[in-house]
Amino acid sequence: MISQWISPDRNLALELVRTTEAAAMAAARWMGRGDKIGADQAAVDAMRSVLDGVEMDGTVIIGEGEKDEAPMLYNGERIGNGQPPHTDIAVDPIDGTTLTADGGAGAIAVIAVAEKGSMYDPGPAVYMEKIAVGPEGAGIVDIRLPIEKNLTALAKAKRMDVRNLNAMVLDRPRHADIIAEIRETGARITLIRDGDVAGAIATAWPDSGIDILFGIGGTPEGVISAAALRCMGGDLQGRLWPRDDEERNALIDAGYDVDKIVGLDDLVGTDNCFFAATGVTSGPLLRGIHFGADRITTQSLVMRGRSGTTRLIEGRHRPDKFD
Ligand code: FBP
Repeated sequence: MISQWISPDRNLALELVRTTEAAAMAAARWMGRGDKIGADQAAVDAMRSVLDGVEMDGTVIIGEGEKDEAPMLYNGERIGNGQPPHTDIAVDPIDGTTLTADGGAGAIAVIAVAEKGSMYDPGPAVYMEKIAVGPEGAGIVDIRLPIEKNLTALAKAKRMDVRNLNAMVLDRPRHADIIAEIRETGARITLIRDGDVAGAIATAWPDSGIDILFGIGGTPEGVISAAALRCMGGDLQGRLWPRDDEERNALIDAGYDVDKIVGLDDLVGTDNCFFAATGVTSGPLLRGIHFGADRITTQSLVMRGRSGTTRLIEGRHRPDKFD
């Protein structure tokens, strides 16, 4: 597979960040306007148009859904000029569409790209149970273990008191038991309204103050988060979470093992992967878009798996060129 990779030293993420910047700037115009469909459409259009200029032969594995539902960035869509490198693509033009529409904190635009054939296709699996940690927790936590055991092990690895750990969890009724179990250990909790990609990345981001992410979130977001954590040396483990018997049977019929623990190697099976994210609204990970009189400011994360390099990039864009 590596042989298909024409220029192994090319850091595609440095080009991909232009697509998340474009998506974030377009989406941010819709901040607080109460229209999540409008915000998402603006982000999709902007990301898609910049993606056209990235030289690769990419296939969208994680996109906006099947072709009939989504005319752009749909699953299976070919992106690029058809020339190598051959890649799999996972996009979420806004992770946090409701956050954007409500003017809430922490919406981001994201893209992950990896060598062709290496990305997990979640198919009909909507939700996945996840545990994510930064480098100190990699090889330490195990999604099969009780929460208390994972927090104790993580605290030991990070040389911290369990009570000082900060666990991020999506604020959903389905997480009542997880929250109760975390509280039982004395650890702290940050509940988020949306956006578990930023949450998963925050576990590996030194100044975020987040140590671990628990809970059930979108399966596509799990694959995208896995690409970022692979670049950062963290870990993410997941298990599909069918909502009812009908969904469970549909997954089994489609060939999925619903009890399998999927790790980084299953979700993004190569270090030859790239990740870029840009803040739409300000959150613990990234500053959101700032519109000034003569400049629009973006803040983005850019990562590459092979080198393990993470860059925090501030962009300044001229409004007269953006419109
Ligand atoms: P969208 O922006 O695509 O709506 O996703 C937001 C999000 O919070 C994800 O980060 C998360 O994985 C998923 O939704 C959780 O799903 P649900 O809102 O159905 O609990």
